[in-house]
Parts: sequence; C-alpha cells; structure tokens
Amino acid sequence: MVSRWSSPNPVVFGCGTSARTGEFLKEFECKKVIVIYDKGVEASAKKILASIAAEGIDYVTFDGVQPDAPDVVVNEAAALARRENVDGVVAIGGGSAVDTGKGTCVLLTNDPPINKYFARPSEPPACDVTHLKPIIVIPTTAGTGTEVTPGGAIADTTLNTKENVVCPTSLGIVDPELTLGLPKSSTIATGIDAMCHAIEAFISNEPNCFSDLLAETGISLIAQNLPKVVKDGSDLKARENQMRAATMCAMSILGPYCNIGHDTGAVLCMEFPMVHGISVSCCLPEIMRFVAPSTPEKVSRILRCLGAEVPEGIDGEALGDLAYDTFKAFMKSVDYPNMKQFIPSREALLATVPKIMETQTFHFSPRHVEESDIVTLFNQMWDRNCAEA
Ligand SMILES: [Fe+2]
Repeated sequence: MVSRWSSPNPVVFGCGTSARTGEFLKEFECKKVIVIYDKGVEASAKKILASIAAEGIDYVTFDGVQPDAPDVVVNEAAALARRENVDGVVAIGGGSAVDTGKGTCVLLTNDPPINKYFARPSEPPACDVTHLKPIIVIPTTAGTGTEVTPGGAIADTTLNTKENVVCPTSLGIVDPELTLGLPKSSTIATGIDAMCHAIEAFISNEPNCFSDLLAETGISLIAQNLPKVVKDGSDLKARENQMRAATMCAMSILGPYCNIGHDTGAVLCMEFPMVHGISVSCCLPEIMRFVAPSTPEKVSRILRCLGAEVPEGIDGEALGDLAYDTFKAFMKSVDYPNMKQFIPSREALLATVPKIMETQTFHFSPRHVEESDIVTLFNQMWDRNCAEA
C-alpha cells in the first residue's frame, strides 16, 4: 500500500488554549483581525476577544454567520474585512462559522466573489493560496475537524449546491472547554459527523496506513464517549475525548477522501433543513451493510471499535447484517433523531437521487454505486428510522 499523508494545518490542543489566542496572533504579527463567530457562542467569543485585545491587537467582529456558509454571507464578511484593512482572520464556532472564515480569508487576497474559487477537493486550488493572510480556527463543536483540513464548504445560493474552497489554516486552537455548552442535538450531529469522517477514510478504496491509525483511534473514542456526552454534556473528560477524536478523524481524511455518506449528504443537506452531520450519517447502518462484502476486514475492525464480537471467518452478508445491527444500536444509544423532522416523505427523499447521481462521483467508495443502490439505501433508511417514530 502506498500511503501519502501531509497536513499544512498546525494545531494546538488542550483545555484553556483558546484564552491564548492573542498570544498566537502576535506570533503571526497581526495588527488588526476580523473575528467571525456564531451568535450562539458569544460568551466564548468574548473571552477570546479579550485575549486578542490584551495583546494590543485591534479587531472587527462579524456575527452574521448562517448555516452552510452561504456565498452571499462570505462575500459580506469579506467586504467588511477588506474595508477595515485587516491582516488576519479568527473564526470561532462550528463548521459554518469556520467555513465563512475560510472564505473570508481567501477573499482578503483574491478578488471577490467567492464563487470564482470553487473547486473539488481532489482538484488544485482555484484561488492563489500562496499569499493568504493568517487564519486561526477555533472550533466550538467536536465534529467537522475543519481546523486541520485545508478546505472550506460554501453554499452556492444560485445553484443550490455545496462547493469547496481551499484555505489551509495557520493554526487550529482546539479547546475542549468550548464544547461544554453545546446543545444535545449539536453534540449528536457533530459527533457522528466526525465518526463518519473516520469510517469513510478507513473503508476508502484508496486506503492509507497513516489515516488508518487516526481513523481507528477516532472511531473507538467516539464509540466510547459520544453516548457519555449525550447523557451528560458537562462531562469534561468525555468532551475532551470527543474533541481529540474529531481532530483525529479529520486528520484521517487528509489522505483518502470521504465517500458514500458525505456524497449523499452533500445533496440531502441542501434539499432539506438538516444539518451536515445528520445528512451524512442518516444512512450509516445501511451503508455499513452495503460495503461490508467489499471491505470485510475494515468493517470487522470498525465493528470491534464499537464493541461488537465479530466471529472469525464470517461471510460478507452475515458481516453486513452484524454491521447494520451494531450501528442501529449505536445510533439508538446516542438518541439519533427521526428523519421525519427534516424530510417530509419517502417520495421527497427518493426525488433527490437523480441530483445525487448527477453531482456526486462516489470516487472513493469501496463498492461501486449505482442509482438503484442509493434508492435501496434510502428506502431501507426510511423504513428503519421512520418506523421507530
Ligand atoms: Fe463531515
């Protein structure tokens, strides 16, 4: 196996590290920065702003972040940043805030609008990344791991699609204390999103020995800790493990890219009012059953991370059934939501399949994917998830 793994994204990890943001910005010689954050994390943002001010660094704030980082919001934040002549970006929050920050950083040194710089993750950057200003990313969820991935996902509001821009982070500050106040629904969605990153990297048809280490550890940590933080959001040790796992899971996709879950989710989250983490994970038991015969050794190892007893010599079909049952039980243990909250009907769900086949490549899937396979996965998911309503 030839494995290539590299990260252009330095990261510091530990409780209390976000209080040192000003110090880190000083190392980048920033004089004035734009601080972009979700309104929901204002209390954390205020402490971080205080640490920036304490180092004598000027700032302007932007709290108009919207879900899925729409292009128009990125262009608005960037216009403010350019007007204020900032020389750096600090993005605080979940994926949408960080992606808005990454888009803004791109537009500090590349002419707007952001839509000019969309590119697939496997393609070269469409913007000039050699002259980017410093960007510090401070996640407040244990999920996207965007602090260690060089991409940002931006919603194209004209085409109703999710697109990518390239923007390596200058520094990720991963402070588990920032996740203590995360609501239960966000804890579930972001935690299982992180698990999907690791699973999809691990089963990828382009496996990578470095990614495997990170992915397997990340899956185990989430299997052990996500049920704990869902039950008790104030469990700092479990929060710390979730945060560590999310960063490791994101590191695992720096080699192989995501596949079936994220490919289908990229369309589902644009068609229905569902967050990214739910859109990519809603078919997880069905996907695990689908891929088991194609990658039995990897699926067996994943199931062992979740505590399942996998008999030696089990055949692909039986392994698929075991995978389905194991993930179905896991999702129940973390109070996974019912899809009827987000998707009005089975017909509406199935109506997305042509768009999925038109826009997604399933390039890294361990098993070839036909349109009929997605129809089957969606039908099975609907029967399981919605029957439990
Ligand atoms: Fe994701």
